[in-house]
Amino acid sequence: MSGRRQFWLIETGVTVRQEVLAPATKTQIAELVSGKSAPAEQPIAQAAPQTPDKSLVLLSRIGNTNPLSIDDYIANNGFAALRKAFSIGADQVIAEVTASGLVGRGGAAFPTGRKWAAVASQPVKTRYLICNADESEPGTFKDRVLLEGDPFALVEAMTIAAFATGSQHGYIYLRGEYPRALKNLTNAVEVSRNKNYLGENILNSGFNFDITIFRGAGAYICGEETAIFNSIEGYRGEPRNKPPFPVEVGLFGKPTTVNNVETLVNVLPIINNSGEQYATWGSTGSKGKKLFCVSGAVSKPGVYEVTFGATLRQLIDLAGGLKSGSTLQAVLLGGAAGGFVGPQDLDLELTLEAARAAGTTLGSGVVMVLDQSVNMLDQLQRIAAFFRDESCGQCVPCRVGTVRQQEALARLVSSNSADETAIDLHLLRDLGQVMRDASICGLGQTAHNAIDSALTRLKVFSA
Ligand SMILES: Cc1cc2nc3c(=O)[nH]c(=O)nc-3n(C[C@H](O)[C@H](O)[C@H](O)COP(=O)(O)O)c2cc1C
Ligand code: SF4
Repeated sequence: MSGRRQFWLIETGVTVRQEVLAPATKTQIAELVSGKSAPAEQPIAQAAPQTPDKSLVLLSRIGNTNPLSIDDYIANNGFAALRKAFSIGADQVIAEVTASGLVGRGGAAFPTGRKWAAVASQPVKTRYLICNADESEPGTFKDRVLLEGDPFALVEAMTIAAFATGSQHGYIYLRGEYPRALKNLTNAVEVSRNKNYLGENILNSGFNFDITIFRGAGAYICGEETAIFNSIEGYRGEPRNKPPFPVEVGLFGKPTTVNNVETLVNVLPIINNSGEQYATWGSTGSKGKKLFCVSGAVSKPGVYEVTFGATLRQLIDLAGGLKSGSTLQAVLLGGAAGGFVGPQDLDLELTLEAARAAGTTLGSGVVMVLDQSVNMLDQLQRIAAFFRDESCGQCVPCRVGTVRQQEALARLVSSNSADETAIDLHLLRDLGQVMRDASICGLGQTAHNAIDSALTRLKVFSA
């Protein structure tokens, strides 16, 4: 198969390089790959099956407005938050974001207000903002829905973030395999610039800011924030050692804010209302609205918006419940870097603290529902192979550990000896510990998480 036609198949959805086809049947994929058919344009609403209404905050415009029309965007509350941000001033914007309790939606859940305040306080005046739109975690497709369906919202949110942090230039680091997002974002940036929502003296505020769209080249590791710096600067996309942290020394050696797409889009309701009001949504430790990418054995896979604290059962029900004939075997929460929970965990509250207590993470919002037809050992081997292939190879614990982990799993799957199984299980635990403790970046540090949860929580290798 040629590189241009490589694809990922995740249960019911397919992204074919340069072309989008989801959901898809095996016949459709075969015809597309053989060139017999062309992909049909899918309406964006299909990936966000909730009916757009006033109860939705992040998805309210998805499928409801024309993503190519700035007039449509303005008619639906567009740029109101930016005008308000200019009127209350940069310090107050950061105060509102801090009061909201917003934390990053890219996986690490770092407090956004604290990050913005750190950049704003740097003595160096040349500062950058990067929107991380690389979205390469298997099972994650929430940012794609925002990028394709509400691109002006990202332009507005980035302008507010840049104003608050005193940044003059922003980059959208966009996953290379998102062609429709590229088209819609390019339009949004150009039209916003023409209408003075970007560029010099935006809306007569005296503030200058512009955005460049930078396409990634398809490496999972390039979503790590410091690997993005290297990639934009023209080097290999390898993570940098921290400290120094990006807020002090980031892109081109300057203070840099890196935020996920969904994190940034959350800033609009915070500024439009108030940080205090936003903080009334959710639990003590997890504030606000969250997008989940529900895939696998559910009737209506797609991106769903809920308030933090909804249960896993409620989310699966929102996605139409289990498919007819399916019995729940496990749910992968947080993606390959997250962990598995079992049918006994359906009442788990979807909050950062409850996920942590259950030994997993919400990560970037993956909820992959696996039924009885899924071979868990195959799943684990695919996850191990994914980390082995995506490790950048820069540090030994990850470069060697991910290979040894995949080999040990393969041996376990074919082993008939209790002694050999015990040795490999021990080795797997040791490898996991070393990778977690000694890897430079989050890829190596989390490469054992899902496998560990399958061993300890689902007990996949016990009799
Ligand atoms: C291997 C790896 C891949 C990552 N990929 C992404 C990604 O695609 N999108 C993203 O927003 N964050 C990704 N992150 C997290 C970023 O490093 C960073 O924490 C995030 O962009 C910060 O934004 P936030 O605070 O708004 O979440 C990745 C991290 C690692 C270790
Ligand atoms: S942990 Fe893995 S991906 Fe990260 S720097 Fe080390 S080798 Fe590269």
